[in-house]
Parts: sequence; structure tokens; C-alpha cells
Amino acid sequence: MNALLSVSMLSADFGRLAQDVQAVNQSPADWFHLDIMDGVFVPNISYGFPVVASIAKQARKPLDAHLMIVDPDRYIERFRDAGVAYLSLHYEACTHLHRSLQHIRKLGMKAGIALNPHTPVACLEDILEEADFVLLMSVNPGFGGQKFIPHTLHKVSRLKELILKKNPSCLIEVDGGIDADNATSVIQAGADILVAGHALFKDGNLEASIQAFTHNTLLP
Ligand code: DX5
Ligand code: ZN
Repeated sequence: MNALLSVSMLSADFGRLAQDVQAVNQSPADWFHLDIMDGVFVPNISYGFPVVASIAKQARKPLDAHLMIVDPDRYIERFRDAGVAYLSLHYEACTHLHRSLQHIRKLGMKAGIALNPHTPVACLEDILEEADFVLLMSVNPGFGGQKFIPHTLHKVSRLKELILKKNPSCLIEVDGGIDADNATSVIQAGADILVAGHALFKDGNLEASIQAFTHNTLLP
């Protein structure tokens, strides 16, 4: 199966962040997934610009930032300045999503729409053409290490159908609870990018875990 892997740094040991960034650099993983939480849109606070800057300084792969914050428009430019290449905003957090996506693209980043588990993919019908990717949450956002919600598989296939009609170049990223057991079915349903955190960090050897995950589930 062929898909990209975006490593969620939320599960990193922040006391040894530099080593974890190096491990991702040296691994077959494709992107760094950065989860930004404000304690308002989601019931957790993660990290902010100083940590993003430390990761950006050493990262040799694209930064994929997932904003779980209210009023994300206020920070779009700062994420561009921090070196982010893929920026996703939650559908549920944007009043003028069309304008926000255009702003992201105008600044030279790829624009993504993130959807909570309860938000139907049908609501993307009139906005899909403005997006480079859709990030489907397969857990309720806020925490790493949660269990994959199986219903997401139906959402992925329905989104794939909609994408083929409206914007075939738009990619599907699936985020939350991805592991070696469910990765193949998520890709078969239509995912182009998988986010994984806990599954890759839990054994304490990040590079080896990424190698194994890539070899067993992501290669054609
Ligand atoms: C959850 C985050 C996810 C999460 C993924 O709110 O958006 O990116 O960190 O990590 P795992 O793979 O641990 O579910
Ligand atoms: Zn995320």
C-alpha cells in the first residue's frame, strides 16, 4: 500500500526533542505532524511557537501543522514564518473558511481542512476546490494515544468519492489512533497520508518503529 507518513511529535519526549527530530530525519517518514492545541477548542494545551521553531530548525522534511485552536486566522502568517508547508484549520473553528484557505495558499502553503469525527464529509461539497488536503480526525482531537474510531473508514471512502467529483488532486490525511493493525484498511479506503504518534513512539526506538511501520504497511 502506498501512502505518506506524517509523524505526530505530540508523543515525543520534549526533553530529547532534538534526537527525536533526527530520528525522523533519518527514517523513511515523510512529514513532521505538529499538533497545536489551545485548551479552548480542545481540552488540552500542547506547545507553541518556541517548540515549533526548535523542530523547524532541525527538520529536514516538511512541517505539517494541525491547528486545534479557536480563531486560527490570527496565526496563519506566523506558521508560514515558522517554516510550515502544510497548514490545516478545523472546519468547526472557521467562520470564513473560504477566505482562510485562500490566505494560506496566498502565503505559499498547502491549505488543509480538518474535520472532527462528528462533522459529515458532505459539508465539504462547496469548499473542496479551495483545499489541497482534508484531515479527517479518527479520534476526538486533544490527545495522542486514543483508540481509532472505526466509522472513520466510511468517511474516508465517502470523502474519496466527493474528491473525485470536485477536486481530484485533493489529498486525504487521517489522524488519530493509526497503528499497524488498521493502517492498511485506512489506505484501502482512500487515505493518502497517515498521521501516527503513539504507535511509533511507544517502544522507545522511533527510527526502528518507523522503519517497521513503513516496511509492513506503507510500501507498495
Ligand atoms: C490528536 C492529534 C493527533 C494525535 C495522533 O488531537 O491531532 O495528531 O497526536 O497521535 P496518535 O497516533 O497517538 O493518535
Ligand atoms: Zn493532529
